[in-house]
Amino acid sequence: MITSSPEILSDTAASHAHLAKLLRNGGLVAFPTETVYGLGADACDDRAVARIYEAKGRPSFNPLIVHFADLETLRQHVVWRPEADVLAQAYWPGPLTLVLKRQPDSPISPLVSAGLETLAVRLPAHDTARAVLRAFGGGVAAPSANRSGQISPTQAGHVRDSLGARVDAILDGGSCKVGVESTIVGLVDKPVLLRPGGITEDELAQTLGRHLAVRHKAEAISAPGQLMSHYAPDSLVRLNATEWEPNELRLGFGEVECDLNLSESEDLVEAAANLFDYLHQLDARQAGTIAVSPIPHEGLGIAINDRLSRAAAPRDS
Ligand code: TXA
Ligand code: MG
Repeated sequence: MITSSPEILSDTAASHAHLAKLLRNGGLVAFPTETVYGLGADACDDRAVARIYEAKGRPSFNPLIVHFADLETLRQHVVWRPEADVLAQAYWPGPLTLVLKRQPDSPISPLVSAGLETLAVRLPAHDTARAVLRAFGGGVAAPSANRSGQISPTQAGHVRDSLGARVDAILDGGSCKVGVESTIVGLVDKPVLLRPGGITEDELAQTLGRHLAVRHKAEAISAPGQLMSHYAPDSLVRLNATEWEPNELRLGFGEVECDLNLSESEDLVEAAANLFDYLHQLDARQAGTIAVSPIPHEGLGIAINDRLSRAAAPRDS
C-alpha cells in the first residue's frame, strides 16, 4: 500500500515550469491531455523512461507515445511522409497518434519504442499539456497515468488514486474532454489503423482519400503492444547464464565479469534503461550467442525477463 500522496498542482504558469523542471531532472509527472491524463518522462532519458514502466507495474514493455509541443521538433525524430502531412494538417494538434520510422540518430531512448525501429508521436491539443511541453521543450513519453490493468484516468484524482507517490507531481487540469485514448495510425508501410479512438476510421479514410488496413481489430483493443513484431536480435540468446561459454558475448547483471553489464549494483531501473541499447550493441558484434545473467523476477525484472525470453524464443525467420 502506498500511503503518501504526490503534490497535486493547480493549472498555473508556475506549475507548468515546475513540471518542466521535474522532467529535466528525470522525474515522473502526470498532466492532462484532451484524451486522458498522461504519465510523462523525458523521452531521451533512459532511466526516467524505465521509471514509467516501473510506476505502471506492467509485466512487459509496451512501446510509448512521445508528445511534442510543435511539429518542427516532432519531425526531427521521425522519417516524415506525405500521408503524415495530410493527417497532421487535418487532426493536429489533437487526439491522433502517428507511428513512423524513427530517425536513426534520434536521441529518444530505445526503451520508449521497446526496441522497435518505429516511434509513436503526437501533438496533443490540450492547452495545459501544450504549456508543459513548451516549457520543457523536448519530447515527453507518456502512457495513460494509471497502474497496469486499471482504467485510464480522466481526472487528477484518478491518477492520485491509481499511482499515489509513484508519480512526483500531478497537474490538475480538470476533466479530459475526449476520455478515450488517441486513435493510432501506422505510417511505416501503407496506412494501418493500429488503435481505434475518437477519430473514426471513416474520417481518416476520407481525409487520406484511401482505405486504411485495420490490424486485427479485436486484439488491437485488448493487447495493442503484443501485435507488433518486436525487435529480435540476430544472435541466439541464452538466458540465466551463471557461467560463460567461450565465444559467447556476455550480458551481465550484478557483480560479474562480462562484456556489458545491465546494472552492476543490481538496480532493475538501471537494467531496464540499458536493456535495448545493450542488446543492440552486442547483436551488432555478431557473436552468434548472447548469454545473459539471471535477472530477479520481481518488479521491473518481470518486464525485462519477458523481453529477454521473447528474444530467446525460437523463431522462423
Ligand atoms: O491518448 C493517448 O494516446 C494517451 C495520452 C496520454 O496521450 N496515451 C496512451 O498511451 O494511450 P498508452 O501507453 O496507454 O498507449 C500507447 C500505445 C501502445 O499500447 C501501442 O499500442 C502504441 O501506442 N504504440 C506506441 N509505440 C508504437 C510503435 N512504435 N508501433 C506501434 N504501436 C505503438
Ligand atoms: Mg493505457
